[in-house]
Amino acid sequence: MSKWIKERDLADYPEITDSETQEALSLAVSQVVEYLKDFRDKFPYACSVDNFYEPGKNRNWTAGFYTGEVWLSYENAVSEAEKEALLAAGNAQVDTFLERIEKLDDVEHHDMGFLYSPSCVAAYKLTGSENGKKAAILAADKLITRFQSKGEFIQAWGEMGAKDNYRFIIDCLLNLPLLYWASEETGDSKYRDIAEKHIHTAMANVIRKDDSTWHTVFMNPDTGKFDHGATCQGYKDGSAWARGQAWGVYGTAVAYKYTKRDEYIGYFKRVTTYFLNHLPEDLCPFWDLTFGDGDEALEPRDSSSAVIAACGMLEMSRYLDEKDSKYYSGIARKLLKVMVDRYQVKDSSKSNGRLLHGTYSKKSPYNTCTPEGVDECVIWGDYYFMEALNRLKNPEWRIYW
Ligand code: GLY
Repeated sequence: MSKWIKERDLADYPEITDSETQEALSLAVSQVVEYLKDFRDKFPYACSVDNFYEPGKNRNWTAGFYTGEVWLSYENAVSEAEKEALLAAGNAQVDTFLERIEKLDDVEHHDMGFLYSPSCVAAYKLTGSENGKKAAILAADKLITRFQSKGEFIQAWGEMGAKDNYRFIIDCLLNLPLLYWASEETGDSKYRDIAEKHIHTAMANVIRKDDSTWHTVFMNPDTGKFDHGATCQGYKDGSAWARGQAWGVYGTAVAYKYTKRDEYIGYFKRVTTYFLNHLPEDLCPFWDLTFGDGDEALEPRDSSSAVIAACGMLEMSRYLDEKDSKYYSGIARKLLKVMVDRYQVKDSSKSNGRLLHGTYSKKSPYNTCTPEGVDECVIWGDYYFMEALNRLKNPEWRIYW
């Protein structure tokens, strides 16, 4: 039988200390530097095979995370030589992002924010990169072409308007900071207006009565109202895909950050509580929150969900009152303690990633995903692990999102 802890049990778990945070972040940065030899202007694929990523071109929805790791490492480099090497690698990668959006190569989907915020917006914020700025604005232009005014949402995948794809997905909340940034930079409110409409639609439809979340939400193309929810990467339609719930934690924090609507604080707490009430004893979620202690023989973890949720809690704790802020940042510290003690790659001869035991997509009898990256490193897991550690080390960090 699947068993979970309860949020209240978290009181007994230790928090990561500042020195443990520093040590873990330094190790991750040293690994990024070590593997620049393979990944200077090449990109790790979305997931590893036997814990090793192959270098490849800038593709998929995931290339931005690796460049994000390079920029986080640049911010935390220990020597001028390292900083220079990371800057050169970051700039070379930004050039490939510019080329990709100019050539419209593999950009017919909504993941422009995942691609362009941690890579090109970060480059612009950190170094004033003009190529980064240009690429990110082109990406924002591309993203708003996916807006559906009937239903007011950004269509995730597929041909625009296709009946079998008239939907948004919870992950998209993390694509929206790109649009807020584009409005700020260009002075044109059209990007922000679309982001706000999407947030409103997502917040109104993606959270279920029991505070779990839909992975994907189909809207009715005639009425513009909620039609039905469905999963793609979760175990089944009514279950809570762990990463979807984690995107919900970070996504509601992002929704509050940009809109300052009071009710979104409540949404954040609901979604987060559901996540925390469905963790196994070691705090690393199974890939779907249906599973818990007792399921380890058949079901893998998804460590990336833990670090995404930790980043969401750390982001939200910037806006909460002192008591809540301390509470959620404390929980993030507890999750990170486990990640560092049990899931961080400590020996770079065993893996060229940062965080073990992620799951990209696991096939079940009920879902529609293509299986890959089961119990592997996943590149966003590595990135958000570093982002979370960096947030603890630098509470004033100017975030890329
Ligand atoms: N955004 C796709 C995923 O989380 O796998």
